[in-house]
Amino acid sequence: MASLSASDLVKHDQDHLIHSLHHPMDNAEPLIFVKGRGAVITDVQGREYLDGLAGLWNTNVGHGRAELAQAAAAQMRELAYFSAYAGSSNIPAITLADRLVSLAYKNLQAVFFTCGGAEANEAAFKTARFFWKAKDKPEKVKIIARLDAYHGTTLQAMSATGIPTYWAMFEPRVPGFLHIQAPHPYRFQGCRPGETVGQAAARELDEAILREGPDTVAAFIAEPIIGGGGVLVPPDDYFPRIREICTKHRVLFIADEVITGFCRTGHWFALTHWGVQPDIMSFAKGVTSAYLPLGGIMVSREIKDAMDSVPPERRWMHAYTYSGHPTCCAVALKNIEIMERERLWENAAKMGARLHDGLSRAFAEHPHAGDVRGGKGLMAAVELVADRATKAAFPADQKVGPRVHAEMIKRGVVTRMRGEAVLFAPPLVVTEAQVDRLISVARDAVKAVLGV
Ligand SMILES: Cc1ncc(COP(=O)(O)O)c(C=O)c1O
Repeated sequence: MASLSASDLVKHDQDHLIHSLHHPMDNAEPLIFVKGRGAVITDVQGREYLDGLAGLWNTNVGHGRAELAQAAAAQMRELAYFSAYAGSSNIPAITLADRLVSLAYKNLQAVFFTCGGAEANEAAFKTARFFWKAKDKPEKVKIIARLDAYHGTTLQAMSATGIPTYWAMFEPRVPGFLHIQAPHPYRFQGCRPGETVGQAAARELDEAILREGPDTVAAFIAEPIIGGGGVLVPPDDYFPRIREICTKHRVLFIADEVITGFCRTGHWFALTHWGVQPDIMSFAKGVTSAYLPLGGIMVSREIKDAMDSVPPERRWMHAYTYSGHPTCCAVALKNIEIMERERLWENAAKMGARLHDGLSRAFAEHPHAGDVRGGKGLMAAVELVADRATKAAFPADQKVGPRVHAEMIKRGVVTRMRGEAVLFAPPLVVTEAQVDRLISVARDAVKAVLGV
C-alpha cells in the first residue's frame, strides 16, 4: 500500500474503508495523515497542520513520542498478551491499576480496563445495575444522562448520549435511559427567579429522580465538561449540588472523564475543580495519549466490596478479551510518567487560559460570536450564531459550520465543529505560538466565511 499514490489512496479509502460517522459527503477529499510531532501532523502530500483537537481529544502528550513506541515494543517482546480473566493477571495491568488508584479521586479504589470510552461506559452502567442487585435493590436500573452529552455509540452508550442525531437510524434505544438538560450557561431554559443555571440544572436531576422514583434509578452520568457536545463548562455551583442530590437519593454518580481525564483541564481529573468525587469514573483517550486503545472504569471501595462479597453465581459477569492488555497498560504507564515528568497539567492550565483569553478578545466584538467557552484547561469553543441578540442559529443550508471548518483546514488547522461551534483541544504540549495561531486561524476562517 505504501507505493499507492495519494489519489489512489483516496480511491481505495472511499471504496473499502467504512469510517466512523460514515458518509461520502464528508469523505470527498479525505486528509490522509502520515506523521505527527508535538502538536503538528503532516499529510500524505507533505502539508503540515496544527492538531487543534489533539486527534479526537486524546493525543495529550503530543505526537511522535519515541518513548511510547519503545514501551510498547519492549512489552510485546516480553509478553504481548495473555488473558486477564479472573485467575490470571499481568504486571503492567497490576502496576497501572495501582498507579491510577494513587492519581484519581481518593474514594476510587479499583480499576477495570476496557479498550475505549464507550466500552468503559457500558461497564459503568452494568456495574451500577450490578451494585444495586447485589444490594437487593434489583429495580434500580435506570440511567439519567444529559442532553448534549456524548458517551459513545455502542447501544447503551448511544442511549446515554444526549445528541438525537446519533439515535435516528438506530432506534429503538435501550429502555431505561432518560435525559435532562445540561447546565449550559448560554442556552439553558427554565431558571426560576433568583435561581442560577447551575442550581436549576441540578434541580432537574432532583426532579427527574423523584418523578421516576429513587428506587428505580441506578445512576446519573455526566461529563465534568461536555466535550463533543460543544465544550460546555458547568457553572461552579452545579457539581457540588449534583453530588448532594445523588447521595441523598442513593443514585450512583458516574463521571465520564474520557476527555477531561489525564491533565486536559489542568488537573489529573476534572471534578477536582469543584472538590467532588464520583462513585464510578470512566476514562479512556488520554490514558495512553492515543498511542494504543485503552479505557476503563474506576469504582469506589463500596462497589469493589460488593463485587468481592457476592457469591460466585451472582458474580460481576462482565468481560472483555482485551481488558488489562499488557502492551496497552505498559504504554499507559509510560504516558503517565511523561505527564508527571513534564507536569503537563500546568501547561494545560496555562495554555488553556491563553487560548480562552485570546479567543474571547478576538471574538469580543464579533457580530456572530454568540458564546466563547473555556477557561478550565485546554478545552475551548466559539459558537457562531446568526443573531447575537436572539441567539438564533444560522439556517442549516448556509453550511456555516462546514465552511468554517474547510477554511481552517486551508489555513493549516484541523479541528472539529459541533454545529456552528468551533472546538479546540490541542495536545497539552502546545506552545504559546501555536495557541496564538489557532486563534488567528479561527478568526480569519470566520471572516472568510461570514465577511466579518
Ligand atoms: C466523553 C466521552 N465519553 C465516551 C466517548 C466514547 O469513547 P470511544 O470513542 O473510545 O468509544 C467519547 C469519545 O469521544 C467521549 O468524548
